[in-house]
Amino acid sequence: MVKISRRDFIKNGLTLGAAGFFLNNSLLVQGQGEKRMIVIASSNGLKATEKAMELLRQGYDPLDAVIAGVNIVEEDPEDTSVGYGGLPNEEGEVELDASVMHGPTHNAGAVAALKGIKTPSKVAKLVMERCDHALLVGEGALKFARAHGFKEENLLTDKAREIWLRWKETLSDRDNWFPPKSEKLPAEVRSFVESYGTINCLALDSHGNLAGVTTTSGLAFKLPGRVGDSPIIGAGLYVDNDVGAAGSTGRGEANILNCGSFQVVSFMAQGFSPEEACLKTLEKIVQKTKFQPHLLQSDGLPRFGLNFYAINKKGEFGSASMWSGAYYAVHDGRENKLREAAYLFKRKK
Ligand code: GLY
Repeated sequence: MVKISRRDFIKNGLTLGAAGFFLNNSLLVQGQGEKRMIVIASSNGLKATEKAMELLRQGYDPLDAVIAGVNIVEEDPEDTSVGYGGLPNEEGEVELDASVMHGPTHNAGAVAALKGIKTPSKVAKLVMERCDHALLVGEGALKFARAHGFKEENLLTDKAREIWLRWKETLSDRDNWFPPKSEKLPAEVRSFVESYGTINCLALDSHGNLAGVTTTSGLAFKLPGRVGDSPIIGAGLYVDNDVGAAGSTGRGEANILNCGSFQVVSFMAQGFSPEEACLKTLEKIVQKTKFQPHLLQSDGLPRFGLNFYAINKKGEFGSASMWSGAYYAVHDGRENKLREAAYLFKRKK
């Protein structure tokens, strides 16, 4: 038997492992014919699903495909919930969280509270591949990114800074900040309070291999150092190559407390469809939320939003949201469009 040192295993394990799995899977699949490729994402991910499908068609690994997809959104200054242009923490600094998970090697990497790097999903992939850890945070994550040649940039766009400034100036009338006299709190700013944003993107390739990524600037105006569900494997993202993949957007704290994405994949393993698995997970979260009255409306229903997205090994997919009116992006190999998500509760008009 050939002996391999731990260091060599760490360095080469991914490549050898992936090759082995791909070989096995493609041999297996070749006998059954090619599988249907699917990419799904949160509603801000139509460009991501388009890009990821283009790369899957060219034979890219599904993880590289979804990362390239979400990079478009991370670099988009107009999306105030992800990457460059994301809304900052309460001190006006943008802090990003991201995770990636690769089904064929059952490996994952993540970064949290990372400042100054537009594409945290790429750093998360390097954490998976180029160190023996699963999650790096804050200054350590930034040092790791610098070591790999990432350039630091100011991620706070004028748009995000102005929204933050209005939020700060209108937070209280017992501090020293004044909003402009002529301006009331713009409706747009109100809509960002307690907003969580985020993009999740999941893919199934023609060999039946799964991968996923979740990336975000997190809760707008959060306490510095707050980490949401997106970089927590099992909460904001989980992939089991034998079963399926799941990810989330919405209130991260509720999701962390319930290991939501792991729960969705577990329900799929029990035979529930992706949509049923997402709904059952939301039901469980609602049950557990009854212990936190500050998160409940006067009618007892949760006063937050949470969304799950899921694909199973067969290529079935679905999404469910706490509240009606949510959409998700799907490229099913034929068309790329937004579809309505299932929901637990109907929003009052
Ligand atoms: N789901 C994103 C966050 O809570 O940060």
